[in-house]
Amino acid sequence: MAKVHVTTTINGDALEFLCDPEQTLLDVLRDELQLTGSKEGCASGDCGACSVMLDGRLVCACLVLGAEAEGRAVETIEGMAQGDQLHPLQQKFLEHAALQCGVCTPGFLVAAKALLDKNPDPSETEVRYWLAGNLCRCTGYDKIVRAVLDTAAEMRGS
Ligand code: FES
Ligand code: FES
Repeated sequence: MAKVHVTTTINGDALEFLCDPEQTLLDVLRDELQLTGSKEGCASGDCGACSVMLDGRLVCACLVLGAEAEGRAVETIEGMAQGDQLHPLQQKFLEHAALQCGVCTPGFLVAAKALLDKNPDPSETEVRYWLAGNLCRCTGYDKIVRAVLDTAAEMRGS
């Protein structure tokens, strides 16, 4: 089958790739572009491990076709740290030990950043509601929620 030629922006860099018409954005990121931070937990939109931003909107990369990235801006977990400088969320996840196996972690970080970009002062309920689409089999969620709330407080300077 003929490949699709896609011109896009990923983490601020203009980029082109070829993909199969039915290939998901998640598979393109991981298999064609070697951006393996986004994880495949379910491939059916249920776990959030593949969360990325597409034109500023939080999406499951397993439910988006690679071809749909044409002309759009994709942000992945690889774009979150600035060089050696971790994003405050990444730092707080470490401090709160909010990860164990780590498979869910990139998705939680991308989703939590999307929340804090939109709402810098979320309540615990809002954090839990926002992250309801991200599943973790290891942590019990409390440490993740604490890490997000602590990040929000620190970023607000309180
Ligand atoms: S791998 Fe996409 S939601 Fe689970
Ligand atoms: S840390 Fe293992 S699934 Fe969340």
